[in-house]
Amino acid sequence: MRTSCPNCARSLKQHVDSAFHRALRLERNAYKPLFALLAVAVAGCGGSQSTLAPAGREAETIAALFWWMAGGAVVIWTVVTGLILYSITAHPGPKARQMGLLIIGGGAVVPTIVLAVLLTFGLATLPKLVAPVPPECPRIHVVGEQWWWRVTYRTHDGDSIPVANEIHLPVGEPVEFLLDAADVIHAFWIPALGGKVDMIPGRTNRLRLEPTKVGVYRGVCAEYCGEAHAEMSFIVIVEEKKDYDNWLSQQTRDATEPTGELAQRGKQVFLSSGCGACHTIRGTPADGRLGPDLSHLGSRKSIAAGTLTLQTDNLLDWLSDTHAVKEGVHMPSFGMLPEADLRALTAYLEGLD
Ligand code: CUA
Repeated sequence: MRTSCPNCARSLKQHVDSAFHRALRLERNAYKPLFALLAVAVAGCGGSQSTLAPAGREAETIAALFWWMAGGAVVIWTVVTGLILYSITAHPGPKARQMGLLIIGGGAVVPTIVLAVLLTFGLATLPKLVAPVPPECPRIHVVGEQWWWRVTYRTHDGDSIPVANEIHLPVGEPVEFLLDAADVIHAFWIPALGGKVDMIPGRTNRLRLEPTKVGVYRGVCAEYCGEAHAEMSFIVIVEEKKDYDNWLSQQTRDATEPTGELAQRGKQVFLSSGCGACHTIRGTPADGRLGPDLSHLGSRKSIAAGTLTLQTDNLLDWLSDTHAVKEGVHMPSFGMLPEADLRALTAYLEGLD
């Protein structure tokens, strides 16, 4: 059998070895853009909607579990890749046979140990995530609707304070969420504060969160629930206790009466155009329950469940063509109203602070 190359003096084995090393070099170079991409991607692991930038006790536990698992995966991958490369390049002999035994051992013993450690670590985090919330802490009932969030604060005096699409929380205090759905399955998730929990019609799930950092965070629906699923988000404001108490007591009040001429006209437009059939504005005849409570809409940061920031132009766009802003939304457009009426309506709604 021929063992040397017909074109040069090198042996066939030398040819195979040099081809293998060339391939390794190529592969290493191919990883360079990948590492650059990874660096860019990891740079985005922050901000108001990141599990890797925790701002709550539960999110810290989940992030720690993630980093332990990611670190373990990197170590195992490195060791296994090293063993594979070694077994490919090592010369056949007694040493290589030992490597074979090592791989079999590593394929059964090491994974058993690693998975047992991870399981123990994972189970140990569970009690922290479901610890009971003291009775004096806030209780918030959230109902997922297509495609917005009906939020009700339950006070200790038995009062219910209706809000929508925006949640305020006091920093450093555990909060209990009671989660429910009105139509289909949704999922409640504030990545910076904790894990996600399904919202199932006819069943109330509980979630404990304890925010540790003041800030504005984004919550989302994490279960596909129909056409506007991607536009079903909400804003979470974690603030000092006194700011939270002020906000809550303001939300208990009836809506402010409009003072300016334009806003007063806007109130008449609201009441005469049928808006009150779906929306409540406390202190007025509008008492509809189909859509969000608008009594304090002007105090919120967004409209259309986190789709647009609350500002005059956005409110005008929303009222004139709801489907252009949020496809599938159940609220009809009011583009048939004269522009002067739409501007008056906008002034009234923005003034509901
Ligand atoms: Cu609600 Cu997705």
